[in-house]
Amino acid sequence: MSMGPCEIFEVGPRDGLQNEAGDISVEDKVALVDALSEAGFRRIECASFVSPKWVPQMAGSGAVLAGISRAPGVRYAALTPNLRGYEDAVAAGADEIAVFASASEGFSRKNINATIAESIERFAPILERARTVDLPVRGYVSCVVECPYDGAVAPAAVAQVADTLFAMGCYEISLGDTIGAGTPDSIARMLLAVRDVVPVGRLAGHFHDTGGRAMDNIDASLSLGVRVFDAAVGGLGGCPYAPGASGNVATEAVAAHLAGLGYETGLDLDAIAQAAALARGMRG
Ligand code: HMG
Ligand code: MG
Repeated sequence: MSMGPCEIFEVGPRDGLQNEAGDISVEDKVALVDALSEAGFRRIECASFVSPKWVPQMAGSGAVLAGISRAPGVRYAALTPNLRGYEDAVAAGADEIAVFASASEGFSRKNINATIAESIERFAPILERARTVDLPVRGYVSCVVECPYDGAVAPAAVAQVADTLFAMGCYEISLGDTIGAGTPDSIARMLLAVRDVVPVGRLAGHFHDTGGRAMDNIDASLSLGVRVFDAAVGGLGGCPYAPGASGNVATEAVAAHLAGLGYETGLDLDAIAQAAALARGMRG
């Protein structure tokens, strides 16, 4: 029985690789994105225009976007923390961009050296500019259940940041369990609060698998109507400013899980397996 469509937003080349300590060449990154382009994703996050002092691994993002073979119908996305990052992303040909905020002050400070309010102020001109050229902007909210610095995060705090980003024009809000501390219960409580302010069809789940519960959290989200999930091929990744954050939930596992449940993802599992092998080979 078909359960209808479900989408995986591939974040491996960005969230996955940003945390790798060893220097990964632009050629290897391009090869990974090209392999993923064969698998049927509609959106692949493959670049990040942040300070190279903060995340050295993403320094070659412009060259990655220049080097990939763009598959028709695929949007290649980039992270942008400020207007400078936005300009660089546009110049490099990103098809969509993402701004990233936190639901907790501690992580906001450590990750982007700004309060939540300051980060929102920085994003406002990005969203204004993007609107004038019809560039889609995605909004991340990190630490949706727990912060590595501040501890438990209230669902209302997540809802407030999600609401703000959505009102500013983000077309989708990706809810990040940055350190994989969520459980089906805490994820459901958070989603119930966020669903009240942002339509569930505009939400995505972004679950790191530190606690080994990412798949259970996906199931909890599915039951509440979420149909977009971020995942990283090969289970790569983490965030350098979130101690203990291990990889994102692995794309190949999510794709197989969703297929098993009867959701249509449009993904080619063999092509994903090949990309996953490539990704694992890049791991330190
Ligand atoms: P800052 O130090 O407060 O800002 O950093 P600054 O304006 O003083 O800039 C510092 C230096 O960076 C300067 O260089 C700037 O020119 C340069 P210097 O003068 O010292 O030589 N700079 C830039 N360079 C390139 N591109 C830019 C840029 N902006 C400034 N766009 C800043 C503030 C936001 C820049 C910094 O904190 C930063 O880059 N942070 C990014 C951290 C990051 O990328 N974290 C990982 C991504 S978030 C994540 O993984 C979570 C997510 O997956 C969801 C989840 O799991 O929860 C999305
Ligand atoms: Mg992440």
